[in-house]
Amino acid sequence: MKKILVTGAVGQIGSELTMELRKRYGNENVVAGFHRTKPGETLKNSGPCEMVDCTNIEQIKEVVKKYNIDTIYHLAAILSAVAEAKPNLAWKVNIDGLYNVLEVAREYGCAVFTPSSIGAFGESTPLDNTPQDTIQRPSTMYGVTKVAGELLCDYYYKRFGVDTRGVRYPGIISNETLPGGGTTDYAVEIYYEAIKNKKYTCNLGKGTYLDMMYMPDAIKAAIDLMEADPAKLKHRNAFNVTAMSFDPEKIAASIKKVIPEFVLEYNVDPVRQAIANSWPNSMDDSAAREEWGWKPEYDLEAMTKDMLEVLSEKLK
Ligand code: SER
Repeated sequence: MKKILVTGAVGQIGSELTMELRKRYGNENVVAGFHRTKPGETLKNSGPCEMVDCTNIEQIKEVVKKYNIDTIYHLAAILSAVAEAKPNLAWKVNIDGLYNVLEVAREYGCAVFTPSSIGAFGESTPLDNTPQDTIQRPSTMYGVTKVAGELLCDYYYKRFGVDTRGVRYPGIISNETLPGGGTTDYAVEIYYEAIKNKKYTCNLGKGTYLDMMYMPDAIKAAIDLMEADPAKLKHRNAFNVTAMSFDPEKIAASIKKVIPEFVLEYNVDPVRQAIANSWPNSMDDSAAREEWGWKPEYDLEAMTKDMLEVLSEKLK
């Protein structure tokens, strides 16, 4: 029986992943680890919740011992735009935090899932159809921590036999918890604003293509990879995964099909734009497809339909 700890369980991905893991493995077998933000009613009432500051190794250890944890989904991280504003904090959380999790995993024999990101690439990477194995020289602190994190996870696998696995997530779009301080956040906000004001001012420019994914696929990717037969994995940290690639015009066009009066305007944020320009336009995720059967369910049209339906109800 799996005993799981999710760090960052209150975050954008963590909040929905924790609930899905509870559904699959039993409520009492999935611990929601939180730090700054306290868990809401849904997380609190459905299973165990514990304070886990990943920069505090003793706190991670205590929870792993208390619940006999064998699998850690390490979601606690600082996103790209915040990492540029607070590089020191990003290093502490994204690197020291991951190091602590890996050390605890080594000592207590846990498997570890760690998300990497499209941010692990940079200007010198081929940005169209970005290969699984290619140049990774990112120019952002976020990217530096993601590349180092991938290497560290591979090192713990090879050197200590820790079962580490990860994916390079694209921008994740969801309707429950908002993302905090990423470059791809516009693709979430645009849906909220389309419903509330029928208008959105985008902080990335026209023609900025980025990989994206709807939350149900992001959750499926994490769980499927952790369930995959290890004998089939040639890669571990981390797999390119994508579901769609679009620019602001394309997502706006898909919204206009449902809300014809929707208007898109631009007010480009130079920091986010520079970050986005250094990231892939579209990734090649064939290694994930071949090695563990990755296949997304949602394309842009299906996602837009679902997002607008769910949010229209929620924002009533
Ligand atoms: N969504 C993330 C960000 O924008 C990318 O990993 O920072």
